[in-house]
Amino acid sequence: MRISLDKAIKLLKAGEVVAIPTETVYGLAADARNDQAIAKIYATKERPANNPLIVHIAGIDQITEWASDFPPLAQKLATTFWPGPFTLVLPARADVPVTVRAGEPTVALRVPSHVICLQLLRESGLGLAAPSANKYTQLSPTTAAHVEFSLGDDIPVLEGGPCQVGIESTIVSVNGDDWQLLRPGMISESVITLVAGKPALHTSDEKPKAPGQHLLHYSPRTPCILFDSRHALDEYAATVPAAAALILGNENPTDITKNKLALALNPVSAAEQLYAALHTLDALHAPVILIESPPDTPAWAALRDRLHRAAYQPPTQK
Ligand code: TXA
Ligand code: MG
Repeated sequence: MRISLDKAIKLLKAGEVVAIPTETVYGLAADARNDQAIAKIYATKERPANNPLIVHIAGIDQITEWASDFPPLAQKLATTFWPGPFTLVLPARADVPVTVRAGEPTVALRVPSHVICLQLLRESGLGLAAPSANKYTQLSPTTAAHVEFSLGDDIPVLEGGPCQVGIESTIVSVNGDDWQLLRPGMISESVITLVAGKPALHTSDEKPKAPGQHLLHYSPRTPCILFDSRHALDEYAATVPAAAALILGNENPTDITKNKLALALNPVSAAEQLYAALHTLDALHAPVILIESPPDTPAWAALRDRLHRAAYQPPTQK
């Protein structure tokens, strides 16, 4: 159900959830100070409550309403990358609802650059908790239609056109002088290193750095298999003629698979196209989606991350 900006503000102030556009993916938003509204996000997404949410704010001046510490390194990153596809995890003020940060002592904050989203944040005066507007573990939505496909036609959606960045924000935690990359995104680790003036702190422990970052994430319903080369993909495709495929760059005349989509051969355009392409291929109900892996270079790191997650198969139960 598409709704106006005024209606979205009314619903959010009344403690309801609304799907909203951002430049990365559509978010399922609710008032980040309202525990009952936050509970509706988790219930609608069927998301475990131990997976904290990002709070979207209208500007850097609002940061002290949420973070108890805003060290110079975080200030430098925020002024460089906001508004934009960049999330900062900082120590939380004690009055930030425990539900929005899932019990963590930190809070994730982002100033999005989508104009309608910014207008919503400014006019409502709210901080909006918003995870991607899809059921837990499913593909992220980059259009209003994707949201309705995953969450149903009754979900109120503020239309904002197709998302221009196309994959979720880069997440960085800052602790004093140190920073860590919690989730790769289109603002790359190398650019952050340049701005921070130092490399990310790498810890050796194995536990996931961002709670809720399970491998099984961003998945189409159709099983996906990742291939290191087009040649390997084609060889496999010859044995499964009904397979769908997601390839990079131009098609070869010899390509075997018919149900095929090609992503642009540059990472910025490919990111913008990624989820719509996976939604389309998923809707074909092919037995499998064959995916050509992007090159193992820093510029493609975020795309590789999402595609590896899409292709992850949980170990079968014995
Ligand atoms: O681009 C985006 O970030 C989109 C749009 C809607 O803004 N949002 C998004 O939210 O991707 P979600 O919930 O799908 O992913 C948020 C990630 C989760 O993996 C969560 O673990 C991490 O952010 N996160 C949130 N709060 C955190 C915290 N306090 N500490 C560490 N990680 C946190
Ligand atoms: Mg998500």
